Amino acid sequence: MASEFEGRDGFTSRFGIICAAAGSAIGLGNIWRFPYVVGDSGGGAFLLIYLGFILLLGIPVMLSEFIIGRRGQRNALGSFKRLAPGKPWFIVGVMGIVAAFMILAFYSTIAGWTLHYVLQSFTNAFAGKTSVEINQFFDAFHTRAFLPLLWQLIFMAMTAWIILSGVRKGIEKYAKVLMPFLVLLLIIMAIRSVTLPGAYEGLQFLFRPDFSVVDSSVMLAALGQAFFSLSIGMGALITYGSYIRKQNNLGNISVEVSLADTLIAILAGVAIFPAVFAFGLDPAEGPGLIFTVLPNIFQQMPGGYFFSIIFFILLAIAALTSSISILEVVVAYLTEELKLTRRKATIMAAAAAAFVGVFCTLSFGALKDVTISGLDIFGLLDFTASNLLLPLGGLLIVCFVGWYMKQADVKDEVTNSGVLKVRLFNALMFILRFIAPVAIAIVLFDSLGII
Ligand code: PFF
Repeated sequence: MASEFEGRDGFTSRFGIICAAAGSAIGLGNIWRFPYVVGDSGGGAFLLIYLGFILLLGIPVMLSEFIIGRRGQRNALGSFKRLAPGKPWFIVGVMGIVAAFMILAFYSTIAGWTLHYVLQSFTNAFAGKTSVEINQFFDAFHTRAFLPLLWQLIFMAMTAWIILSGVRKGIEKYAKVLMPFLVLLLIIMAIRSVTLPGAYEGLQFLFRPDFSVVDSSVMLAALGQAFFSLSIGMGALITYGSYIRKQNNLGNISVEVSLADTLIAILAGVAIFPAVFAFGLDPAEGPGLIFTVLPNIFQQMPGGYFFSIIFFILLAIAALTSSISILEVVVAYLTEELKLTRRKATIMAAAAAAFVGVFCTLSFGALKDVTISGLDIFGLLDFTASNLLLPLGGLLIVCFVGWYMKQADVKDEVTNSGVLKVRLFNALMFILRFIAPVAIAIVLFDSLGII
């Protein structure tokens, strides 16, 4: 199929694409970030707004990224250059590459914590600990320097290693088999969690909306979380879109991946919040939430020792299938535009992200007093990338497809040159042109105080 991909590497099967795109979407964003942002943002009302954003904004942005990538047949920046030669649209690609560095930096911090918890599960380190002791254990670990940094570097090296083995062999192979197991495990954990004494309060927190807690910052948090979780707004899915074959249905893939991602986030919420309340923990405890809640759940499960090991391994793998999609954004750019070898590009990009990552990891300990407008380094990178760059990127991406691209070309991509009947095409164009850009702009600029 070399000619179809213009000599580039590509996904060989529909199942492979779904797995790779879902592998990118499903990761720490669903299981680590979603619960803690829900907790920080007051629960049920956030969930409803989040779901609305996924449907109305997330799916259209994802589809737009696939359209740009498959039509452009290049990395995120190169695709814009190719579809809009001589125009400044490539800046969206530049923003994406910047966001990729930032996200990879703090993502690897948390992924490193996950790896540490794999080892701790093996050695049964949480056995017999009270929830207070589990909290102390987490504090003692994540505020240190050496160990979290070591794990972060190991994770980054694993990401680079997978990227080096190429798109098809690497990404497709790993994504395919493992995610169904993660879902199964989450279901089992959710069942344990909701049957704990006192669990009901947690379900209420997650599912009973209280709109009095909603302000513009909650709206922005929901928007950022939706974009982060779906891997959209920075060109990861433009890059993956460029590896998708002509006969695959981009609309269906977008809907399926978004649904899977959302279901897993909700499942994670159902596993976490009942336990948070059952163990008397604080839902707004921040980025450490799952690391203090999950060991408690495993201790209450028959076979918890094994569940804990398997869960943290699968979570680390879910993080890997996401981090490779982030690194791939940068590597595809460096190899295609700057003509570096894949090896050089991967090593350089991973090393640069790891360098920034060191500061993120240390911001929980040695550098915790370094703050800018109330945010530490970790929080600042997360906020800037997830809540600002991704929504802004998404806004420009839908505008590109809705307003800049010829409607006939968009239709050509969505219908695979007329092969597919797409009944909702006009509705899609309306969303891309009016609804999505206006809604993203309102949430983004309102929360920044610009309107
Ligand atoms: N969607 C991933 C997650 O939920 O863990 C994180 C991510 C991947 C964000 C790729 C952005 C991205 F481009």
